[in-house]
Amino acid sequence: MQVTVLGSSGRTGMHIVRLLRAMDYSVRAGVRSRQRGEEAVRLGALPVIADVAADPEELVQAFDGSQVVINAAGAGDPDPASVNLVDRDGAISAIRAAEKAGVQRYVQLSAQFADSPDQGDRLVRSILLAKQISDSILRRSSLNWTVVRPGTLTDHQATGRVKIAGHLEAGRVCRADVAAVVVGVLDEPLTENRGFDVHSGDVPVGAALAALE
Ligand SMILES: NC(=O)c1ccc[n+]([C@@H]2O[C@H](COP(=O)([O-])OP(=O)(O)OC[C@H]3O[C@@H](n4cnc5c(N)ncnc54)[C@H](OP(=O)(O)O)[C@@H]3O)[C@@H](O)[C@H]2O)c1
Repeated sequence: MQVTVLGSSGRTGMHIVRLLRAMDYSVRAGVRSRQRGEEAVRLGALPVIADVAADPEELVQAFDGSQVVINAAGAGDPDPASVNLVDRDGAISAIRAAEKAGVQRYVQLSAQFADSPDQGDRLVRSILLAKQISDSILRRSSLNWTVVRPGTLTDHQATGRVKIAGHLEAGRVCRADVAAVVVGVLDEPLTENRGFDVHSGDVPVGAALAALE
C-alpha cells in the first residue's frame, strides 16, 4: 500500500515515515524542498514536493497512486497568519487534493482541544482554532478519515504505550508514540471516521486503538 506523508521532515513526521517503512509500506515523503527529503531517502521513502500553502495541483500530484494520506504538517511559527496558512487553509487544500486524487484513507494529526479551543491553552488558541476548522472540513469530506488529537508533544523515547479516549484531561505524549498511533490507525477499522485524544499511558498502541468506544 502506498502512503503519502505531509510534513515528513518534521519531528513526528520522521517517526511516521520510519514506522511505515519498517512495516513495508511504500512511502511518498512530502517535503517543501529536496534537501529536507534526505533522511526520508535513507529510510527508503521517495521524497515528493508537497507544500500545502502552494499550488493545490502539486498536492494532487504528490498524492497520485497513494491510497492513504497522513497530514503531519504544522506551522513552524505560532503567529496566526502562518498557522492559518498551514493548519487551516493548507490542511483544507490537502483534503481537497486528496479527494481529487482518489485517495481513500486520510489521517489528520490534529491537537487536543482542537474540537473545543476555548478549553485549550490560550498560547496555542490560534492553532486550535485553525485545526478546528480543517478537522471539521475533513469530517464532512468524502474521505475515510481519522483525526488524531495528541496532548502536548515531547521528544522522549518511544514507550509503545498510550492512553486513548474521545476526550481526555490536558496531558502529554511523546512524538514517537503519536507516530505509532497514527500508523496503527491504518490497521484498525474502529478508527475509521473517528477522532480521539492521545496521551502517554499504559496500554499498548494496538490494544488502545482496538478498545476505542
Ligand atoms: N507541539 C505540540 O505540543 C503539539 C501538540 C499537539 C499537536 N501538534 C501538532 O502535531 C503536528 C506535528 O508537530 P511536530 O512538532 O512534530 O512538527 P514539526 O517538527 O514542527 O514539523 C512540522 C512539519 O510541517 C512541515 N510544514 C510546515 N509548513 C508546511 C507547508 N506549508 N507545507 C507542507 N509542510 C509544511 C515542516 O516542513 P519543513 O521541514 O520544511 O519546515 C515539518 O516537516 C503539527 O500539526 C502540530 O501542530 C503539536
